Amino acid sequence: MKIQLKSKDEIEKLRYACQLAAEVLDMITEHVKAGVSTKYLDDLCFQHITEVQKATPANIGYRGYEKTICASINQVICHGIPSDDKILKDGDIMNIDVTVKKDGWYGDTSKMFLIGKSEPHNQRLVKVTQECLYLGINEVKPGARLGNIGAAIQSHAENNHYSVVEDYCGHGIGQIYHDEPQILHFGKRDSGLEIKPGLCFTIEPMINQGDKRTKVLNDGWTVVTKDGRNSAQWEHTVAVTENGYDVLTKRSEEALD
Ligand code: MF3
Ligand code: CO
Ligand code: CO
Repeated sequence: MKIQLKSKDEIEKLRYACQLAAEVLDMITEHVKAGVSTKYLDDLCFQHITEVQKATPANIGYRGYEKTICASINQVICHGIPSDDKILKDGDIMNIDVTVKKDGWYGDTSKMFLIGKSEPHNQRLVKVTQECLYLGINEVKPGARLGNIGAAIQSHAENNHYSVVEDYCGHGIGQIYHDEPQILHFGKRDSGLEIKPGLCFTIEPMINQGDKRTKVLNDGWTVVTKDGRNSAQWEHTVAVTENGYDVLTKRSEEALD
């Protein structure tokens, strides 16, 4: 297999793009509230990336996608298209996923937002999904196998009576947005590729309250749960170090490492 391992210098360039992506999520947080449209949030992210960061919103033009962010509300699993008629309301949960390209390198990250006063079942879904991401990240170290990441995520999700979406996965990242290897969010410990220093990839578990089945809407993008129950997702870009991992898209609010 031709999976490319990145040098320390290359990882620093990747980190820069990743930190810009993380900063977009920090920037947008104060604007996320009931009454605003996802298109408004998209416009703010576009302006911030192009005018403040002097960088490129990598989703625009990706396979014909036309927006800067994906904004996925409630039963939308991923790839929700921002629009003027999608207005956030009290109790919604939403993922914002953004990828910034800077100097040829891609940084990809997403987080969940609770709008106003959310119900306990939604709060629990969002919290457990973030724990799934962190448990997956914790498996990253040289000598371990990629399957350990999926196994850790799947067992935590299933112990909480949720299901793991299998139709979409994490991916290698660097100067290519979606590169090899695929990072599955389910699977068996000690299976899959060996993790090596310099490998860079995303982990982005999508966890459903109901069953794992997905459906794509007629717009060709929006992925929803087949059973109409809610779904959550969190995403980080990570690099494998000599003895573990480095979370390149870490935000200031996060206590990782
Ligand atoms: N950022 C998404 C991912 O995590 C991909 C979005 S592609 C888009 O891999 F075109 F829908 F934006
Ligand atoms: Co990704
Ligand atoms: Co993403």
